[in-house]
Amino acid sequence: MTAVKITVIGCGYLGATHAACMAELGHEVLGVEIDDAKRTALAAGTVPMYEPGLEDLLAKHVATGRLRFTDSYAEAGAFADLHFVCVGTPQLASSLGADVSHVEAAVRSLAPHVARPAHVVGKSTVPVGTAARMAALLAELAPAGAGAELVWNPEFLREGFAVQDTLEPDRIVLGVPSPGAEQALRAFYAPMAEAGTPFVVTDYATAELVKVSANAFLATKISFINAVAEVCDAAGADVVALADAIGHDVRIGRRFLNAGVGFGGGCLPKDIRAFVHRAGELGVEDAMSFLRQVDDINQRQRARATEIVQGMLGGSVLGARIGVWGAAFKPDSDDVRDSPALSIAGQLHLGGAHVTVYDPKAAATAAARFPTLRYADSAVDAARDADVLLHLTEWPEFRSVDPADVGAVMTHRRLLDGRNLLDLPAWRAAGFEARGLGTR
Ligand code: UGA
Repeated sequence: MTAVKITVIGCGYLGATHAACMAELGHEVLGVEIDDAKRTALAAGTVPMYEPGLEDLLAKHVATGRLRFTDSYAEAGAFADLHFVCVGTPQLASSLGADVSHVEAAVRSLAPHVARPAHVVGKSTVPVGTAARMAALLAELAPAGAGAELVWNPEFLREGFAVQDTLEPDRIVLGVPSPGAEQALRAFYAPMAEAGTPFVVTDYATAELVKVSANAFLATKISFINAVAEVCDAAGADVVALADAIGHDVRIGRRFLNAGVGFGGGCLPKDIRAFVHRAGELGVEDAMSFLRQVDDINQRQRARATEIVQGMLGGSVLGARIGVWGAAFKPDSDDVRDSPALSIAGQLHLGGAHVTVYDPKAAATAAARFPTLRYADSAVDAARDADVLLHLTEWPEFRSVDPADVGAVMTHRRLLDGRNLLDLPAWRAAGFEARGLGTR
């Protein structure tokens, strides 16, 4: 493999991971980060979030010198001819659309320094049509003119598996304007091609839509099974057995059919809303309106969990002590953005309950956003004196806690497994009134 000089513009989750992983492949990487605190931390070999394996990899390549950081676009333009744009596209405050201003700012800042033929590669999740606009902007502002080409190369990494997903992606999608651009990116990703990763080479619009369609499909799968779980509850059926059974059909597949309190995070909820919004702008809102229901079903799981807890407590949570296992939106992450666990904990707190949360990694990020909740140092401590315990983020450690140890410190032995992963018969055997969502 030929080592290539690249820049990575925006060193948040996506950018820091891409930068460290590309250095691991042997490339020389310059990360561009304008946030002073973030850049200083990265340059010292630390990452400001919990992601298994990432900090070790980043520190390793800061030490090898293959990975450096700057805030200078002039330095970036001079350093490399391959630039990856990895900035965030959060939900707009004014609408349900995505805010692409950081993508535009990155292209505007970099373009004047692209003085030689180069490729600017967008990786951020954007509304369809953004890449074409960014290509026009680049052509207009880059001294290299038509020699500076834009490529769209969406990223599919999952939090918790970011390093593995980046080094061993299950596909590479390239939206390209020319055979030359395709060739440049294929050469860069040669190690993945050698490992058998399939490449899908297409136009900008398709590449942009692949990304949001993939997330919309995953969100739909989760809301589908959660809707079925509601019917299972009403009918006395078991959604876990049902998911196992339908999952054996390879056309359906078992993954992402885990019913529970629903999806959260910085991607799925935001991306389905932005997809509906963009479809509306394109005059095809009806085609995507089902995603509103996907969103509604997802939100409803949080309300449903709260109502079930109320029911377990005899109608009101006022004054009750509630232990909550989990704060992150998923395990192996300290990300609490749009976290179902914290949303439910917050609703119960607003209802007058005394809520104590335990999360193995996300307590600090959770406390920064939800300072009014109490935080415990262990799973058992979160349950101390509680009237009911909620399992809301499926960290593996919760499955190895002995129900007897938890029962011994609780006032009332009640459990709601909001992820359907605990061994309910074992909890019942320890004297618990225990239930899941859509399970028996
Ligand atoms: C998601 C996609 O899975 C990635 O492919 C994509 O690259 C990423 O968004 C992105 O756009 O950047 P991520 O947000 O890390 O990744 O999380 P997921 O693993 O998709 O989980 C999302 C949520 O769905 C979590 O809250 C999880 O608990 C929930 N979930 C997942 C369920 O409720 N049930 C399931 O069966 C699976």
